[in-house]
Amino acid sequence: MRRRIKNCSFPSCRPPAGRRGLPALLAALVLLSGCGGGKDDSLRIGAALYTQDDTFISAMAQDLEGLVREAESGTGKKITLFIADGKSSQSTQMDQVDRFLARGCDVLCVNLVDRTAAAVIADKAEAEGVPLVFFNRQPVEEDIQRWDGIYYVGADARESGELQGELVLDAWRRDREALDRNGDGVLQYVMLEGEPGHQDSLLRTEYSIKALTDGGVEVEKLANEAANWNRAQAAARMAQWLEEFGDGIETVFSNNDDMALGAIDALADTPRDRWPLIVGVDATAPALEAVASGQLYGTVHNDGRGQAQAILDLTLALWNGEDPAQAVDLEEGHYVWLPYRQVTLENLEEFWKE
Ligand code: GAL
Ligand code: CA
Repeated sequence: MRRRIKNCSFPSCRPPAGRRGLPALLAALVLLSGCGGGKDDSLRIGAALYTQDDTFISAMAQDLEGLVREAESGTGKKITLFIADGKSSQSTQMDQVDRFLARGCDVLCVNLVDRTAAAVIADKAEAEGVPLVFFNRQPVEEDIQRWDGIYYVGADARESGELQGELVLDAWRRDREALDRNGDGVLQYVMLEGEPGHQDSLLRTEYSIKALTDGGVEVEKLANEAANWNRAQAAARMAQWLEEFGDGIETVFSNNDDMALGAIDALADTPRDRWPLIVGVDATAPALEAVASGQLYGTVHNDGRGQAQAILDLTLALWNGEDPAQAVDLEEGHYVWLPYRQVTLENLEEFWKE
């Protein structure tokens, strides 16, 4: 694999904007030390987010910032993390990637807006010899295999669906009467889905329900709709469903916590004696509070901090020219998978501390 720090040639490796005002000689020295055969002590990471307006992603970006600062003081090396907000526009994100490359970033970390854009970004990075770490929004296998400098850090969406379904299955087995309010032996549910086509939406939707049917529970879907991971959109869907089905909703499955909190907002707006059982995914801070208060039955911890740590470990290894498999648990040469974990009132303590 080519690595930019060893191979980049003047002038494609430019210093960050702040350095461009330096006198010519000093600037040339900076460039020489950054691009020559010797070891550059300054690492520049470009991280592109699909949108910063997403609770899980913005928390993950904050984790990455914190970990970068720790690594800086631990290694004594200068590490600059550039973070770009794609604002849900793939063309905006494409420009941001171009700018990161023009700025001379040593490693790119990309949370794709549209996973079908992976190939174009992979080709740009390969042309510049800049390693590329995709995260959270998984490109298809074929795109990951385009070049050996491409990686993916994420979590297996199918596992989160199964764990979410098992939370409800356990509740059903433990106290079926509480859940099966109309006593018909069938679990009536609604499903709040993330973005259409996102693998986390598709797989969580499918495998949460499969865990129940595999466990021998008969289910009936009253309604399902995409709310794009978004709390306000989910509240609007839930308000509509409450009008339509009222207390007939026995369980609310939500592909993430923000939408589960939206369902809770809608329930709180229309006072009622009993609430349906609600489950989410992510274990965001406000979701943990909702578990503590009993409004959210449970969630599935999506290890954003672990993913941020893996991104950084991978980045440092690549930059140092080390074997990435020594730094992270690498599968098939390209993938790092972080496990999901169930969260309920019973083990909530473990997650508060994180
Ligand atoms: C999921 C997460 C969602 C949302 C989405 C964005 O893994 O559960 O809350 O952040 O990623 O791609
Ligand atoms: Ca029922």
